[in-house]
Amino acid sequence: MPDFSDQFRQEFNQLLRWRRDVRRFRTDPVEGAIIDRCLATFNLAPSVGLSEPWRIVRVNSQTARDNAVANFEAANTNALKGYSGEKAQLYSGLKLSGMRDAPVLLAIYCDDETTKGQGLGAATMPETRRYSVVAAITQFWLTARTEGLGVGWVSILDPIRLNHDLDVPAGWTLIAYLCVGWPEDDKDTPELEQVGWETRSTTLDILER
Ligand SMILES: Cc1cc2nc3c(=O)[nH]c(=O)nc-3n(C[C@H](O)[C@H](O)[C@H](O)COP(=O)(O)O)c2cc1C
Repeated sequence: MPDFSDQFRQEFNQLLRWRRDVRRFRTDPVEGAIIDRCLATFNLAPSVGLSEPWRIVRVNSQTARDNAVANFEAANTNALKGYSGEKAQLYSGLKLSGMRDAPVLLAIYCDDETTKGQGLGAATMPETRRYSVVAAITQFWLTARTEGLGVGWVSILDPIRLNHDLDVPAGWTLIAYLCVGWPEDDKDTPELEQVGWETRSTTLDILER
């Protein structure tokens, strides 16, 4: 194993600090080789029983892109109804997806029915397959950032509608809809913090038992 240096550790920490969820993209394309390098990190991710349950759909066609945007807009309109007063006003001004502009769109699924791994580790907690996909997405997200790319995770979607529109196999569960592209700008503070929606914690509560 390489001897990771102090400098590497500092740079890695900077990577974590500057990762960001990106919703504002430039529309210029991303070279396929860069996306391929980022996607290759899925195969380096941990997964329960080595089940590698991630399944990736590249959303290329204009119809599929438009359907996903319409899906988001309907879900977002519904979500707004869950807030009132000042919070509703703030919510309605939030930009919660870069789906229109991002040149690369990826729907990331978990194959809940995969036989890979032969069920090891998932007998009592089958949801660990989905956790494995989240772990892989995190690696992809960080790798994309090292390339200067931004990634935005969209969850304000009706997953059943998306599954239907993308015609994915039964047994696949939507984990994330990712927007990928060149960010309009780089920030070290979450956008939701900048606009006053929520603040990031600087401490951890740890129970001792
Ligand atoms: C599971 C998950 C779902 C998310 N869904 C959305 C979303 O639908 N729209 C959005 O704008 N951001 C979404 N985000 C991004 C979060 O809002 C963001 O991670 C958080 O505000 C912290 O900001 P940062 O990622 O820039 O540090 C999601 C993040 C995660 C991990």
